[in-house]
Amino acid sequence: KKVTAFAPATVANVSCGFDILGFAVEELGDRVTVTFSEEPGLKVTKIEGDQGRLPYDVDKNTCSVAVKAMLEKLDFQGGIEIHLTKGLPLGSGMGSSAASSVAALEATNRLLGNPLDKKDLLPFAMIAEGVACGAPHADNVAPSLLGGFVLVRSYDPLDVTKLHVPNGLYCTLVHPHFELNTADSRSVLRQQVPLKDAIIQSGNIAGLVAGLFQEDMGLISRSLQDVIAEPSRAVLIPGYEEIKEAIKEAGALGCGISGSGPTTFILSPSREIAHKVSDISQEVFNKMGLEVDLYVSAV
Ligand code: HSE
Repeated sequence: KKVTAFAPATVANVSCGFDILGFAVEELGDRVTVTFSEEPGLKVTKIEGDQGRLPYDVDKNTCSVAVKAMLEKLDFQGGIEIHLTKGLPLGSGMGSSAASSVAALEATNRLLGNPLDKKDLLPFAMIAEGVACGAPHADNVAPSLLGGFVLVRSYDPLDVTKLHVPNGLYCTLVHPHFELNTADSRSVLRQQVPLKDAIIQSGNIAGLVAGLFQEDMGLISRSLQDVIAEPSRAVLIPGYEEIKEAIKEAGALGCGISGSGPTTFILSPSREIAHKVSDISQEVFNKMGLEVDLYVSAV
């Protein structure tokens, strides 16, 4: 028996929601196939699309780390082989490690006859994020697993909830051709937040969530502001400030760093505007002489 699962790319943080907000970008993602094997234990047998860079070591590969934790919980004693096909670039800020572990967990759960609910897979994917990025954050794995826009209300205890997504919300992803390691872009963050910034950030998070439920594009737009992580991270991303400036008059709702970067996400109230800001971003990078990949997708 053989089961293949797909898990989508994700935009984590969504500006103000550092480590607590994320949404799935369904068109892009990773694929994992799992099979039973005669030999007991877990094995990563094939990895494609990673230019030979991801580890086969069961304790280092995010797929096997997640699946191993799941199999231990289920007390499964048999053998399973994992075949990962990367669709997402590494170190891109599009939730690449999360998509791999989520696809592996979903495929394994189906192979075993669905012993666990979707939501129960989340803690295993978070363990894999801890290994991949040094922090077991859930704002990529939760939307990759559950789809749509997700809020991580609390980590301890874990409390994750799906948010409403207004019709007509589109996302443009601007992925420059270089990598940022999440552990590195977490290391530049301030550990203390001034009270005035905490107030601005809380207002924006609440505004963004209310804007999604009320389908109020203006409120969403005003809330796409991050005074905690972005100021420290934007300097690591060539072109970020230029894109932010260039899209101002194009009708987009706003932009932010996707996860820990270097991808920038831009939210728009129509597909037409999402394509327009994609073209504008391409021009910005052309002028800078930097290569970039662009994607437009409904949220
Ligand atoms: N919330 C995480 C961070 C996402 O910003 O570090 C990493 O993709």
